[in-house]
Amino acid sequence: MDSPWQQLYAAADSARLRAHAPYSKFRVGVALFVDDGTIVTGCNVENASYGLTVCAERNAIGAMVVAGRTLRAVALVVDSGVPTPPCGACRQVLAEFAEPSLEIRSRNLLGEEAKWTLGGLLPAAFSRSFL
Ligand code: THU
Repeated sequence: MDSPWQQLYAAADSARLRAHAPYSKFRVGVALFVDDGTIVTGCNVENASYGLTVCAERNAIGAMVVAGRTLRAVALVVDSGVPTPPCGACRQVLAEFAEPSLEIRSRNLLGEEAKWTLGGLLPAAFSRSFL
């Protein structure tokens, strides 16, 4: 796959439609590009006990781990005015599985795009090197 982004956004958009977000109504879909060239997806799953909500990124990472794959790139699709980056907690979880050079891209439903690196979003991640 030369440029995986088109397929990643399509997969993230499908995942977004599966989001369980009855409280915030803010549905997030994520697609991870992984080492064997396949795509692993996730969506946010909210709970009536609000604090138990799990973001799309962390659900996707869990699916990637159980599939035995490693992370190459991340795409998000959100229905927001501005394409949104992963939240702080998800940045730290992504940092467990990727280098600071990891590319993260986000698109809204208007097709507007934003791009970051993980290191740009979380310059001082906590890592195993501190343990
Ligand atoms: N959310 C994500 O899924 N990913 C993020 O990076 C930001 C927030 C979800 C959590 C909650 O279900 C909703 O978006 C509103 O915060």
